[in-house]
Amino acid sequence: MNEEGKWKILERLDLGELVTFVPNKDRPIHNWFHFKEGFSRDLVAYLLRIHGASRDIRVLDPFMGVGTTPLTCKELGYRSIGIEVNPLFHFIARAKTNKYDPDEIDEWIKWVSRLRYRPVDLGGVSHLVRKAFNPHNLRDIIFFRDRIMELDDDRSRDFLLMGLINASSKVTYAVKDGAVIRFRKKPTPPFREFYIRTLRKMKKDVMTTRLHDTETILILGDARKMDMIDDESIDLVITSPPYLNKIEYTKVYEIETELFLGRHRIIPLRSYIGLVYRGREIELPIDADNLPKSAVAYLKDLWTVIRELYRVMRPGATAYLVVAEGLYRDRKVPVDTLLAEIADQEGFRDIEIWVVNKRVVTIERTVKLGVARESIVKLVKE
Ligand SMILES: C[S@@+](CC[C@H](N)C(=O)[O-])C[C@H]1O[C@@H](n2cnc3c(N)ncnc32)[C@H](O)[C@@H]1O
Repeated sequence: MNEEGKWKILERLDLGELVTFVPNKDRPIHNWFHFKEGFSRDLVAYLLRIHGASRDIRVLDPFMGVGTTPLTCKELGYRSIGIEVNPLFHFIARAKTNKYDPDEIDEWIKWVSRLRYRPVDLGGVSHLVRKAFNPHNLRDIIFFRDRIMELDDDRSRDFLLMGLINASSKVTYAVKDGAVIRFRKKPTPPFREFYIRTLRKMKKDVMTTRLHDTETILILGDARKMDMIDDESIDLVITSPPYLNKIEYTKVYEIETELFLGRHRIIPLRSYIGLVYRGREIELPIDADNLPKSAVAYLKDLWTVIRELYRVMRPGATAYLVVAEGLYRDRKVPVDTLLAEIADQEGFRDIEIWVVNKRVVTIERTVKLGVARESIVKLVKE
């Protein structure tokens, strides 16, 4: 218990790997796109299990990323709602949670193999994207993308474009290294055959993974304004907001966004959670005088999300939020305890902080900045 008895702190280092994307590497469908910032299917399955969740509950992930929570719910037979602000991740979540029939996939693969190549003009392609691929591969990727975008049927388009994103991520020279993209040239296979092999592998994944017919609602939207969700309609929340001071998603995924979604203008995020804040400025319900400005903005956004969660959760519902301490050159911002304090003021009870990881954080790759705590904050609505 903390000194005022408002929350408990528990050490749960056994969950350390589960809050990362690593276990998804070998999980069919989950591994169609490697999302370093995501958590694992096993974490979602574990939380559903300890919650003793009955099948008719509705699960919410307001920061769903590439859809780990909704996909796991669909595998295990739970209804779910996911919200994501970034159109690329929202698309990937949809493509992974669609139900496909292996026979129709065969037809789509046949269609792809029969396409006759037409020369592609790289004129409008940015320097960044050109740097990321061997020019032959890039031409092939754009050729397939343009043909796929002409398809009328949503599901074939989703599946084939997902396959294209999957295959191109394996042949790119771009490497995501924390908050920056680096380029490393390497030998790559001829793209056309590689793409078809990837689609065949995805078909196998579809055949070995049983998805239930349970309702899955994926919303392209902002977690701070969940207008589309009714009051007291959610039984369980499993989510991971972006970490304070961690990465700029719009920058690191710029190549995929330009190539597969066109040049979307994504409004810069103010604290990596909220879009630029346009409403009335709010005062945090905690003492924030000594916090860096970016941490205050971040916590204000998180507070808005916490208030929305309180509104949409049913009495007795539980929320699990994966967060991490923010590290600055001269101090640490304990996001977990600050979040617990905010949640307590909003009326959440039985608050627990499970410390799951203690990570060494470096800047400029080698300079050690300190150790950051990663935690799951558990909240119960009274
Ligand atoms: C830590 S990731 C979550 C990853 C997810 N658990 C998974 O396994 O894919 C945080 C996600 O929140 C999204 N995000 C940032 N601000 C948001 C907002 N205001 N509303 C909804 N999603 C937001 C980011 O684009 C990112 O995908």
